[in-house]
Amino acid sequence: MNRHLTAMALLVLMGTGAATAGTLDLGSDAQREAGRVLYDKYCAQCHGDTGDGKGIAADRLNPRPRDFTSGKYKIRSTSSGNLPTTRDLMDIIRKGLPYTSMPPWPQLSETELTELAYYLKAFAPAFADPDFLSEPLDLPEPPPFTEESAQRGSQVYTEIGCGLCHGELARGDGRSAPTLTDDWGDSIRVADLTKRWTFRGGPRRKDIFRAFTTALNGTPMPSYAESMSVEKRWELTDYVWSLSPGDDPAYDNVLRAKKISRQIDLQDLDGLFDAAEQAYFPVIGQIMEPGREFHPSATGVKVRAVYNEIDLAVELRWNDMRAETSGSNGPDLEVPRFEDDPERGASAGTARVEGSDDEDDFWGDEEESSGEDDFWAEEEEVSDEDDFWGDEEAEADGAPSGPETEFSDAVAIQFPSQVLSGNRKPYFIFGDGKSPVDIWFMDLARQRPEMFVGRGSSALESQGMGELSAVASFDRGQWTVVYTRPLRDGGVIFEEGSFLPMAFSLWDGFNRERGNKRGLTRWVSLFLEPGGKKSVTGPVVKVVLLTLLVEFLIIGLVRRRYRGGVQGAVPASRA
Ligand code: HEC
Ligand code: HEC
Repeated sequence: MNRHLTAMALLVLMGTGAATAGTLDLGSDAQREAGRVLYDKYCAQCHGDTGDGKGIAADRLNPRPRDFTSGKYKIRSTSSGNLPTTRDLMDIIRKGLPYTSMPPWPQLSETELTELAYYLKAFAPAFADPDFLSEPLDLPEPPPFTEESAQRGSQVYTEIGCGLCHGELARGDGRSAPTLTDDWGDSIRVADLTKRWTFRGGPRRKDIFRAFTTALNGTPMPSYAESMSVEKRWELTDYVWSLSPGDDPAYDNVLRAKKISRQIDLQDLDGLFDAAEQAYFPVIGQIMEPGREFHPSATGVKVRAVYNEIDLAVELRWNDMRAETSGSNGPDLEVPRFEDDPERGASAGTARVEGSDDEDDFWGDEEESSGEDDFWAEEEEVSDEDDFWGDEEAEADGAPSGPETEFSDAVAIQFPSQVLSGNRKPYFIFGDGKSPVDIWFMDLARQRPEMFVGRGSSALESQGMGELSAVASFDRGQWTVVYTRPLRDGGVIFEEGSFLPMAFSLWDGFNRERGNKRGLTRWVSLFLEPGGKKSVTGPVVKVVLLTLLVEFLIIGLVRRRYRGGVQGAVPASRA
């Protein structure tokens, strides 16, 4: 953290004033009035009529909608702690903030964006104070990317300590990650630097460079503008940029299981999946039934599968800030309906720091958090945990024991119990009365799989373990879970050359996810590639596309049907 810039931030926030050149840019009364009309129509439900971030939708969102009265904006061209320019506001409104509820607004014209920006400025008095005028930084154009630069950047990453928050392998699992809060006292998730498409300010190299040059105001993400040369910052940019496979996640629809001749044995996983192609599926919040989770911790799951004459093996990998291996979890755990949820106001599940709800504390907090002392104090606190993390390193392969949590991490794969005719699929939230699903659940604290048959989320029946087996391990911010089951067993049958619908659920205990409060994928297809054949051919692709089309239609229909009825469903008890 840079001392000079922090001092500037303090000046801005506390109003002691540091004059800068330039003129105030607040628009005309007519422009602000036009901005108000747009704002009331498009923005107020989240950001609140008075711009305080407390719109009617706010409690369900994580991160919460911005409180515009604070003047704190994440994505700017100005130095750390300073107000954004009108252009900055227009740009970020147009683009939105990826992987949050803040949508992009490409349909708004330049004029409308200008009017909105002026209206937002009117919420925070600092914009009208000449003392707080801020000029955009002269951010350089990116030099060409080179591998050497990325390699040097990897050293910079370690030396400078980005890993403290972002983790050794930059998966968002640094040792202080679980303790971080934003300036409003809400716990904040550190960016997973291996997924640049999730960055609030964009995935391009100039966006990454800007992030650690200007900092993200209102968050613990500091500025390195003064502590690091421009050259070093480009090296770091290249390193961060190189960690993701692309600007887009390139999500898949099909998981191809490769036929192998070797034995499938959970005690000997080395190289088992080497021949298999990895599929990457988006994980989204379950928002149809009580326990709604708009932004679960996981955003995606990587899956590979192989099979032989006897067994199928499926491997799931996803990034997680910390392994929650105490407490317990279950697909049928009751989640309070939102309205009755004592955690309401906790950003749909993230811990809101004790006492930060009332105004007094909020302001108390804020002063503290803008002070440099506190930033460092936080860090010190964190290093008190040496013991625990020492443990973790020692146990890198197994699941480490974290601090006590009520809910553990958990995972499930789901298949239709019977193949349905005409591409029909069961309701994707744990099946329905007519079309049950098989759920291969595993509580990662207990590390023993359990089979459920689901006829809707209020009707789950445990079937014990059956022939299902699974192992799980956690290493530096990533869970790996491998399930195996004979091709033919009590439940769903796996046949060479066949397509089967499958879906995944992930629960992050840290985020208090349990039962229906979880991340899930839509139905995707598992294809058991016939042995010998190299790749999927044209006809197969056609089948998949057709299947998807029909699936969308069905999901639409089923959603409509279920929206009315199931809301107040009674929680199931485990049979
Ligand atoms: C569905 C809810 C929702 C709606 C509607 C919405 N926002 Fe947001 N907005 C958010 C959330 C949530 C954030 C905070 C995201 C974060 O902090 O990462 C946010 C953040 C912002 C930011 C801060 C950007 C930054 O760099 O920090 C601006 C500016 C903004 N919104 C403007 C608008 C405007 C203007 C509208 C209407 C045209 C609008 N929002 C509509 C949810 C919403
Ligand atoms: C004190 C903890 C902390 C440290 C140290 C830290 N970061 Fe961050 N960083 C964060 C948090 C928290 C976020 C997420 C902010 C948000 O989502 O609003 C973040 C976000 C980011 C982002 C995403 C920006 C975006 O547009 O969303 C990048 C890139 C990044 N950090 C890079 C780095 C690099 C490189 C370093 C080391 C030079 C570093 N960070 C050091 C906490 C930290």
